[in-house]
Parts: sequence; C-alpha cells; structure tokens
Amino acid sequence: MGSTVSSVLKRSDSFSDDDESVKSTTSSQRTEAECTSENGCLSIVVLGASGDLAKKKTFPALFNLFKQGFIQENEVQIFGYARTKLSDDELRNRIRGHLKSGNVESSEFSNIVTKFLKMIKYVSGSYDDKAGFVLLDEKISEHEARRGSHEGSSRRLFYLALPPSVYPPVCEMIQHFCMNKSDQGGWTRVVVEKPFGKDLASSEELSSQLGELFDEKQLYRIDHYLGKELVQNLLVLRFANRLFLPLWNRDNIDNIQIVFREDFGTEGRGGYFDEYGIIRDIIQNHLLQVLCLVAMEKPISLSPENIRDEKVKVLHSVLPIEDEDVVLGQYEGYKDDPTVSKNSNTPTFATVVLRVQNERWEGVPFILKAGKALNSRKAEIRIQFKDVPGDIFRSKKQGRNEFVIRLQPSEAMYMKLTVKRPGLEMSTVLSEMDLSYKQRYQEVPIPEAYERLILDTIRGDQQHFVRRDELKAAWEIFTPLLHRIDDGELKPIPYKVGSRGPDEADKLLAKAGYVQTHGYVWAPPTQ
Ligand code: BG6
Repeated sequence: MGSTVSSVLKRSDSFSDDDESVKSTTSSQRTEAECTSENGCLSIVVLGASGDLAKKKTFPALFNLFKQGFIQENEVQIFGYARTKLSDDELRNRIRGHLKSGNVESSEFSNIVTKFLKMIKYVSGSYDDKAGFVLLDEKISEHEARRGSHEGSSRRLFYLALPPSVYPPVCEMIQHFCMNKSDQGGWTRVVVEKPFGKDLASSEELSSQLGELFDEKQLYRIDHYLGKELVQNLLVLRFANRLFLPLWNRDNIDNIQIVFREDFGTEGRGGYFDEYGIIRDIIQNHLLQVLCLVAMEKPISLSPENIRDEKVKVLHSVLPIEDEDVVLGQYEGYKDDPTVSKNSNTPTFATVVLRVQNERWEGVPFILKAGKALNSRKAEIRIQFKDVPGDIFRSKKQGRNEFVIRLQPSEAMYMKLTVKRPGLEMSTVLSEMDLSYKQRYQEVPIPEAYERLILDTIRGDQQHFVRRDELKAAWEIFTPLLHRIDDGELKPIPYKVGSRGPDEADKLLAKAGYVQTHGYVWAPPTQ
C-alpha cells in the first residue's frame, strides 16, 4: 500500500470507520485549542530512557504511533529520563537505529524520523533524588505552558522502562514532584511492567507500595501478550460467533494447550533469567493471561472492569498444581553462561497442567508449555476436540479436530478438519480451513503489542492491563510450585538445545489426553 505519513495522519483517534464526525477530522484541522480544551497537552516521560527496553520497545512503539498520526507534534512532547548524562541529540542518536520504516516509503522515512526525534528531550537525574524530578517537572510544565495547556487539563504519562526495584522510589518522586492537577480532565498515569515481585508475598508488597502512591486507575501494568493482535481477537472470536458458543466447553473440548517456544537461549539475559526462570518469565503472566481469555465467561459488557472481573473468576477456579502435572527442563549449556549460577536449579522449560474447576471446564486440562532454546519459535493456542462418537469413517487415525490460534509468527487461525480425500476413492484426509492474516489482510500491518498498549494508556482503557487482584490470583496459583523449585525440591531435566524439550513433557501431554496427529503439518501460505 505504501502508506505515507500524510495518508496515515488522516487516521482518527478512534478505531471506528463508521464515525463520520471522526472521519472528517484530519491532523491539519486539529488545532491547539482542541488540544487544550477537551484534552490538555500530553507529555510522555520514558524513565530509563538510556536502557535496552526503552530503545528497543518503548521509543519504537512511540515512533509507530507518531507515524500513524496517533501522537502529533503539535500536542505531544516526549521526555527521556535516566541517570546517564546525555544531550538531547545523544539520546536521539541512540534511538534512531531502532526505528523501522514499516510500510512508509523510504523517501519519506528520514523526514518522519527527524520530526519524531525532534519531539524528544532528555533530562538526566537519579531515581531517588528530588532534584532530577523537580527539573523534570519544570520541563514538562514549560511544555504545557508553551502549548497554553490549562493546569488541571494536562496529561502526563510516565513509562517506567526500569527494573522493578526502583519502582517504589520513582513512583514516590513522581507523586511528590511531577503530578498535575486533574480537576479539568487532566491525568497522571504510570506504566509498569513485570517482574512484579518473585512470589505472592513480594508481589503484594510491591503492589501495596505502589497502591499507597497511586490509585488503581492510574496504574497500567503491562503484559505485552495482551497487546498481541490475536490475543485481542479472542473475545471477538468467542463471543461474536454463534458457531463457537455451543462448542466451547467440556462436552466438546478434550484439552487445551497454550504454548510458547523460542529457538534461542537466554542471550545476554542470563543474570536476570536465572533469578526468575521460565515460569515467572512466561507462564505465570503471558500464558496465564491467555488462558483467562480462552476460559472466561462472557462479560456483561466490554468495560475493562467487567472483563477483568471474569478473568479473575477463572484464576480463582484454578486448582492447586500437583507435582505430577509438572515437567521442568533446563537446556544443556545454560550454566556455561558466566552470569548464571554454576549449580542453578532454574528451569528454562516447563510444562504445567492446570485444572479449572468450574461448570464449563471441569475435566479439561489446560496445558501451559514454555521453553527456551527449543527447535522452533512460535506461540499458539491449540484447542483439541474430543473424538467423534460412533465414527463410521474410522477417521480417528487421521487425527482429531483442532482449532489453532497462531499468535506468532505468521498470525493465523486454522481449523483442522477431516475431509474426503479428493479423487475417485472414498477415503478421508486431514485438512484445514485457514485464515492466515498475511494473506487475508495484506494491506494491514499488524501493530506491535507495545504500540497498542501505549495508545490504550493514552486513551485510559485498562482492558488490556493486569489489575491488582488478577496479579495476586496469578501468584497464588504458582507460588507454592515456585517455592519448591527455589528450594531445590523439584529439579529440571536436562534437554538438548534445538530439541522439543524433555521427552517427559511429551509423556505428560499424552497423559493429559492430548493426541498428537502424526504426518500432518500446517504450513502458512507463502503469499
Ligand atoms: C518477555 C520475556 O516477557 O517475553 C522474554 O521476558 C521473552 O524472555 C519475551 O523472550 C517474548 O516476547 P515475544 O513477544 O517475542 O513473544
């Protein structure tokens, strides 16, 4: 499509194509008066601006929003804040190489990059000292004054691209020195990301420290899996399609797998990873969030609170994890990383079977599987249906019906079906109905998770963020198991780099009822 900035700038703040009032508002028609009356000027502050997360994820996400016209030069100022002494240009140069052109023509790209980088200013200061935050507040206030933003209507978004150990002092500084008044529609919002503690007690401690400083409405806990296109599609898929309503339960579904695989190891993050392990890194948050969306009941509305209420109910219905429902693994060579302890007991692979004890799901195992240094990279949800009763085609040998939602890469949904093998003979073959996004939505670039979540934060939509009680319930499920691993009572089984993980994990899968289809491979369409 060759989308250019001038064409995308016409995009409105709304997702709706039908809203005529919105359609007719182009960026050039949006005035500063508009920016100050209903919505005061927006300042986005990236704390930890010189770090990896900021460079690789936060600034590129902001750039993509800028490229598409969701944040605009005449309204928004972006501030980077960190301890390192840097000039504005030094920070901009660090960010530049991480910005991607996407579908913007190369002739326009450098122009857009220049405009975007100009929006960024840098403030240096420490994370627990008044002086830096007073200076930051002055800079933000100057920007607001320049834009004529009324006190009380300004919007301040603080993105903490920082280790959680400094969340409490940073939040305290923001609360004391950088808040704006909110009496005319303004706000202050704080975005934080995992790890939120290491177990129930430490997470609760962090939650109460932050809770004393900010209301739940001001806190945006990112789980970036909630920003992925096909995860966001789950509610629509489940509740806007009559087809699925009668099928989505224990009467028809035999087992559900939620799988995360990476074909590389800890890659320079060994120090962090060794403290946390695959369950804290992936399963307790990303995969469990996906489980909630797969298993939850229909919310009474699409309001973030109604949706999150239903997710919490799922978490509260999960039974305690039994040892026999867990297989842990550690890839060979993991401990060669000098930042990893020589006698590390940290799992880099885990399969955990969860049981959701409610009317819809009793007896259906939810198999959560995650691993590093495996033979492929993908994340998917695999819903396997029960065998057909009284099967006259003897098609059982062909495999069961499966509905697969491929979260990444090659986003897709496909339904594995048994069909008549084309030709003169009457025999059956396993095939699929395939909705591959690249092929079906060729014109639409799939947004990055961070991009969408930052936009949600600006819009004040907490639907795709983790609420405090959700976080607590998630830790309640995994803390006993994690403590047993930390204490060395459960040990990971070694597995080869580039393998499927320990054989024991496949055995657990089979025990849980999963029937693997041999000889069938789904290949994403090439065009
Ligand atoms: C992060 C984990 O949350 O998610 C990483 O800390 C992991 O270990 C990453 O690599 C995977 O994210 P994605 O979006 O590439 O699947």
